[in-house]
Amino acid sequence: MPEVHLKLPHHQYVIHVRAGLLAELGALVRAVVPHDRAAILADQQVLPRHGQAAKQSLEQAGYSVVVQSVAAGENHKNLQAVAALYGTLVEHHMERKSPIFALGGGVIGDTAGFVAATYLRGVPFVQVPTTLLAMVDASVGGKVGVNLPQGKNLVGAFHQPQLVAIDTDTLRTLPAREFRGGLAECVKHGVIRDEQLFNWIDDHLDAILALDSASLVELVRWNVRIKANVVMADEKETGERAHLNFGHTFGHAIEAVQTYGASDGYSHGEAVALGMVAATRLAVNARRCDASVLDRLIRLLDRLSLPTSAKNLPPTDALLASMQLDKKVASGKVRLILPDRMGAVSIVGDTPASAIVAAWNSLRTS
Ligand SMILES: NC(=O)c1ccc[n+]([C@@H]2O[C@H](COP(=O)([O-])OP(=O)(O)OC[C@H]3O[C@@H](n4cnc5c(N)ncnc54)[C@H](O)[C@@H]3O)[C@@H](O)[C@H]2O)c1
Repeated sequence: MPEVHLKLPHHQYVIHVRAGLLAELGALVRAVVPHDRAAILADQQVLPRHGQAAKQSLEQAGYSVVVQSVAAGENHKNLQAVAALYGTLVEHHMERKSPIFALGGGVIGDTAGFVAATYLRGVPFVQVPTTLLAMVDASVGGKVGVNLPQGKNLVGAFHQPQLVAIDTDTLRTLPAREFRGGLAECVKHGVIRDEQLFNWIDDHLDAILALDSASLVELVRWNVRIKANVVMADEKETGERAHLNFGHTFGHAIEAVQTYGASDGYSHGEAVALGMVAATRLAVNARRCDASVLDRLIRLLDRLSLPTSAKNLPPTDALLASMQLDKKVASGKVRLILPDRMGAVSIVGDTPASAIVAAWNSLRTS
């Protein structure tokens, strides 16, 4: 099946994954959100590379298109960017049925989605993700929002897109470090849900890293299917959607302590790779899962040039304190996602602090 269908009780949409899809964007959207006007939000890295193709395709389908660009990066996922986009939408008389397009990575998807959730109390939006992370994770599932100076993703909403249009060719311009970061999320999907996917990535890694077109489409489509299934089972994260946080409770602590958006620290994908190793080692130490799961994970992450141990990890007490502040903490207890075996995880809420300290310390190399 070339498309993935995401069906919720109140809404359903299609996620298209193809090479060269930007050229078809207008025709695909016309069938779902017909209107005479549309707005594209993109950052200043993505706009010169893919903005024209998206705009042209929408114009050919009869939309008059307004483009708003913002500076690139996590530091610009904020209320200032939101206000700038509100201003553009008002100035160009965008209406309740005018769609907003998020063309870019997760930062743009989250920001444009938040604007779409709130402008005129909600307008349609279309995700056109251009990073691997946004394709396999951020663009699917309707979580939108921005950061506050006090922390990441502190304001937001659930606002599902009308359509997700993924052109895997856009990955050709993505910096290699960003691409590898997205692969960390694909490995995560393998560990939490699908041993076959984990093995497939291992077997096809050379083709994936060489950006072989068919392999990229297969990789993205497979991961989108997993993300969509998780969202369909638990849209608002009252249960199993939390499985997607595997590696993230540790990873977010690393990102937060090194101050999020820092350019010289670990990237999100790198922090998640370390986090997956820490969580899996904790599970092995607690005899929840076999040591072979950890060995396979480390071997694959090594092949991806993602970190599996760290020389410059922040102090453990700072990392622990940050874990306590994570918004996923329930009644003061850190909830961890720990592997049971390759392809299955559990939510564990009663891990002793000493086991978490040991997991952090096991990441350290001298
Ligand atoms: N909503 C969700 O469910 C969800 C899930 C996971 C992550 N997120 C959010 O996603 C964000 C991270 O997303 P990201 O990793 O995509 O980062 P990003 O959006 O900052 O993109 C990373 C960098 O790649 C550049 N870029 C993007 N596409 C490009 C392309 N095709 N060619 C060249 N350069 C390109 C961007 O300009 C940016 O500099 C975080 O804010 C995170 O909170 C949201």
